[in-house]
Amino acid sequence: MPSTRALLAVAVERLRTAGVPTPEVDAELLLAHVTDRPRAMLRLAGAEVTDVQAEAFAALVARRATREPLQHCTGRAPFRHLELRVGPGVFVPRPETELVVDLVLAHLAVSASAAAAAAAPAAAGVPQASARRLVLVDLCTGSGALALALATEVPGAAVHAVEVSPDALAWARRNVAEHLRAVQAVGGAIALHAGDATTCAQPGGPLAELAGGADVVVTNPPYVPDDAVPREPEVRDHDPHLALFGGPDGLAVIRPLARQAARLLRPGGLLLVEHADVQGEQAGARGLPALLRSQADPAAPGTPAWRDVVDHHDLAGRPRITAALRR
Ligand SMILES: C[S@@+](CC[C@H](N)C(=O)[O-])C[C@H]1O[C@@H](n2cnc3c(N)ncnc32)[C@H](O)[C@@H]1O
Repeated sequence: MPSTRALLAVAVERLRTAGVPTPEVDAELLLAHVTDRPRAMLRLAGAEVTDVQAEAFAALVARRATREPLQHCTGRAPFRHLELRVGPGVFVPRPETELVVDLVLAHLAVSASAAAAAAAPAAAGVPQASARRLVLVDLCTGSGALALALATEVPGAAVHAVEVSPDALAWARRNVAEHLRAVQAVGGAIALHAGDATTCAQPGGPLAELAGGADVVVTNPPYVPDDAVPREPEVRDHDPHLALFGGPDGLAVIRPLARQAARLLRPGGLLLVEHADVQGEQAGARGLPALLRSQADPAAPGTPAWRDVVDHHDLAGRPRITAALRR
């Protein structure tokens, strides 16, 4: 029976030689996956690896050494408290996108306390109408990461998610099926829609009925400029091109998508758009904040669609998410 230490040492060396940026972590996560043990328990005395597991581990290390993403090797990607299924045809959710959910939760907490404060004087002796179900929209949902996180973390919400790629949508459907009980456990609902996020709220589009009724729209859209091909093989060769590239300036999907968000949101509703770290305030007219500030209201041409445009940084301190409220 091979020792854990020896197996890991060989794997780490192989991954390091292949240029994997975090060989120790990846080797441990792959071994944790095949042994179905938490990573922290791998090196405990008595935690042995069978010959069958060692063989499966070697096969996964060989795949990872070709720079296949770790998440494709395990078939799983963590996102917030969820474990999502991923593989060829779908974008692997990234940790920085988790911040979008924090921003939604913070916004809803503020909105709820403002609504409670506004309702307080009328509350004396008057029965309150039951709370309205929040309507949250995820455009370009991919694996369903943001939609599922919102549906499980915002109790009672109705979440709608739109995705244009049939391959990605198939992964999203699988993930929704796996986590549906968790959504229902908090009184929520989730609907996946096949469609184009750049036209989805127009008459005949899958979200046309929601126009003017959404409380929050989130999106992690394709935003990489066409000529900025990522260097990491995991991204370049495995994330779908449809998920990455957003036209010559990276904003070709975001511009019409934000117009759909303006159709969807009620006045005061929140839009959150993830973007590249070079598309923040410092990018001036080529950045997301400037794009939203200049966008006209589709219902009232000549007036701005958005107010209170703010750019948020990720945990690494890089510009990452633009927030705006619907006027
Ligand atoms: C960067 S990925 C993000 C996926 C997911 N939101 C996440 O954060 O993991 C962008 C996604 O947008 C989808 N997409 C690209 N263009 C689209 C469009 N016009 N309408 C709807 N989805 C689109 C891609 O197929 C891909 O799944």
